[in-house]
Amino acid sequence: MDDRQVVLITGASSGIGRAIADLLSRQGYRVFGTSRRPAPDARFDFEMLELDVTSDESASRCVNAVLERAGRLDVLINNAGMSVSGAIEEIELDTARELFETNFFGAVRMVKAALPHMRAQGRGHIINISSALGQMGMPFEAYYSASKHALEAFSEALWHEVRPFNIRVSVVGPGFMRSNLRQAARRAAIRLPAYDAARRQIEAEFDRRVENGADPAIVARAVLRLLRSDAPPFRTPVGLEAVVVAVTRPVTPPGLFAKGVRWVMGLDDWRRDALRIAPAAGAGLALLALFARWRSRQG
Ligand SMILES: NC(=O)c1ccc[n+]([C@@H]2O[C@H](COP(=O)([O-])OP(=O)(O)OC[C@H]3O[C@@H](n4cnc5c(N)ncnc54)[C@H](OP(=O)(O)O)[C@@H]3O)[C@@H](O)[C@H]2O)c1
Repeated sequence: MDDRQVVLITGASSGIGRAIADLLSRQGYRVFGTSRRPAPDARFDFEMLELDVTSDESASRCVNAVLERAGRLDVLINNAGMSVSGAIEEIELDTARELFETNFFGAVRMVKAALPHMRAQGRGHIINISSALGQMGMPFEAYYSASKHALEAFSEALWHEVRPFNIRVSVVGPGFMRSNLRQAARRAAIRLPAYDAARRQIEAEFDRRVENGADPAIVARAVLRLLRSDAPPFRTPVGLEAVVVAVTRPVTPPGLFAKGVRWVMGLDDWRRDALRIAPAAGAGLALLALFARWRSRQG
């Protein structure tokens, strides 16, 4: 009898999903990956199924195929995703809906299709691949950021609901990883000249950072650690940017955090800002030093 853990990973044809599928297969899991258009001649170390997460029918067909072939489903990893870049004003609502159909409702569909079986089994693990942008709003990536925030809130609620059935829920939030995400990204159809400079800057920054991003194998290793853990954490940031956001956001004044985002993404020039705030910062430090001296004389 095949006693390998059965894992279904959505969007395993490239990038992060492919890296997770490859690693888990090598580690002895029975892995099913998916693609909207599985190439008949492509070679994978795992079984490939057809899935479009924007379709209810496709989602339940995919889960049923896993159950027919493997007899059970232990782990569901919702990884399939897309990005849309452009200003909020420039992106048509239909495009924003399409993004949510993939990044948010796509995961919802898969969870709804998998849960009856996991509940019947009395065990399971659902891992949703979010993003560092599930914790912050990025300009010109508003709908993407919103879809990942929605996914995180959904996952948190799900964690509570399925806990009594011994089903675990985790969110993995990667920073920039090398993948096809930017090549596949939808760009705004309308281009308003008022946003040209900032949009170009952010798009170029994102393209460059994903192209030079970390190896998605680090996300795969984080997923493996979650699967092996007796008490997996709810949220795991992976990669430099995600860890920086997770650590700094809760303890940084919102104005300063926003400034940091603008500096890092090249929307504001930190040297010019530093010159502007230097006199005020210097005066503040001098006052602090005077106060400290006065206190030490009193004591
Ligand atoms: N790369 C990063 O820097 C980064 C950072 C944070 C989070 N993420 C997240 O990581 C996940 C994977 O993205 P990636 O960076 O690895 O990008 P990727 O290389 O473009 O992979 C996206 C995967 O999603 C699948 N997909 C897209 N639309 C789909 C749909 N409607 N139905 C089913 N599958 C669909 C694609 O498969 P087919 O085209 O073969 O169907 C592909 O396998 C996404 O959720 C993304 O938001 C990425």
